Amino acid sequence: MKTLDDLLAEGVAGRRVLLRADLNVPLDGDRITDDGRVRASLPTIRKLTEANARVIITAHLGRPKGAPEAKYSLAPVAARLGELLGTEVALATDVVGESARAVAVALAPGQVALVENIRFDPRETSKDEAERGALADELAALAGADGAFVSDGFGVVHRKQASVYDVAKRLPRYAGDLVLAEVEVLRKLTENPVRPYVVVLGGAKVSDKLGVIANLLGKVDRLLIGGGMAYTFLRAQGHEVGRSLLQEDQLDTVRGFLAEATERGVELVLPVDVLVAKEFSADAPYEVVSTDAIPADQEGLDAGPATRELFTAKLSDAATVFWNGPLGVFEFPAFSGGTKALGQALVDSGAFSVVGGGDSAAAVRSLGLPEDGFSHISTGGGASLEFLEGKELPGIAVLED
Ligand code: 3PG
Repeated sequence: MKTLDDLLAEGVAGRRVLLRADLNVPLDGDRITDDGRVRASLPTIRKLTEANARVIITAHLGRPKGAPEAKYSLAPVAARLGELLGTEVALATDVVGESARAVAVALAPGQVALVENIRFDPRETSKDEAERGALADELAALAGADGAFVSDGFGVVHRKQASVYDVAKRLPRYAGDLVLAEVEVLRKLTENPVRPYVVVLGGAKVSDKLGVIANLLGKVDRLLIGGGMAYTFLRAQGHEVGRSLLQEDQLDTVRGFLAEATERGVELVLPVDVLVAKEFSADAPYEVVSTDAIPADQEGLDAGPATRELFTAKLSDAATVFWNGPLGVFEFPAFSGGTKALGQALVDSGAFSVVGGGDSAAAVRSLGLPEDGFSHISTGGGASLEFLEGKELPGIAVLED
């Protein structure tokens, strides 16, 4: 796989470089609530601008339905990127149209511009290779005859999309520093993790994590399951879960996981108490109940104190930890304690600790946990999970071709 440093060694001054970044940040209106992905993209951008490349960035925001929608504009991202780089970052008003072409042509060496949300073009996510290819041709044309493609959006490398996969076949292609760093860390988890190896999975849906659980049962020493997905496990064990999140259609699969964990000698740890409330709101009155006594008219919104203690104990001797998914509704302060306690337990464990997923990374920052207390905070949610599942990631495979 060729890297950004190879491109710099070949000489990039004055050349147009199309850079795929993952700038998919959470927004409240047009305010960015966590700019972690923008900051994670800076080292590669800076290396390119310092080498006097003309940098055209393509990225997505949210999941628009293949047409422009003001709320998914990259305008707040262009503004934040400009602030962080200390320079003007122009934003084309379209993806590969007249405005994008004009912005690309006008770029001076060392300058950076963004084109609008790539998912405003329906061809980006098309299942039809010819449609994606047509968009990839137009993207590649922005970089021009001596252009290059740098893939640095680790969070999207699991997507076979025009700006991630197809365009890489049309220009000389290089892996950016973020993609390289992420792959190197995740390989440590998949190839030879130092033991005990503990994985903590939280978040809302079991169905999003089926593949990774199936794969991890053969690799980990301990699997801690919390957050919304834990209720399906608790139900599978016969507990009533009231109005908590439950994926009935996954109960059989989950029973299979519980049986397999026992067979393989993997310790599967579930919450023992939870904070329950009658309604899903920030100021809902709540109480702590044992997971075998969840009232029928209440839903679990966070891990309880005994669970926090249990999870902390199960992490204390870990040598390697991967964590994906919050243990509760961390966006509501009253229900953020479980996630915060878990993050602190990871920091205190001294283990090689990797946090994966937009929500968990945002939780680390918004709950005031020390970012440098973790070995690595991945920018990839789905991408890091699919990597751990052992799946081939199209955006990485295409760079290796
Ligand atoms: C993410 O948020 O995980 C990445 O930006 C990918 O976004 P997507 O799941 O909408 O493809």
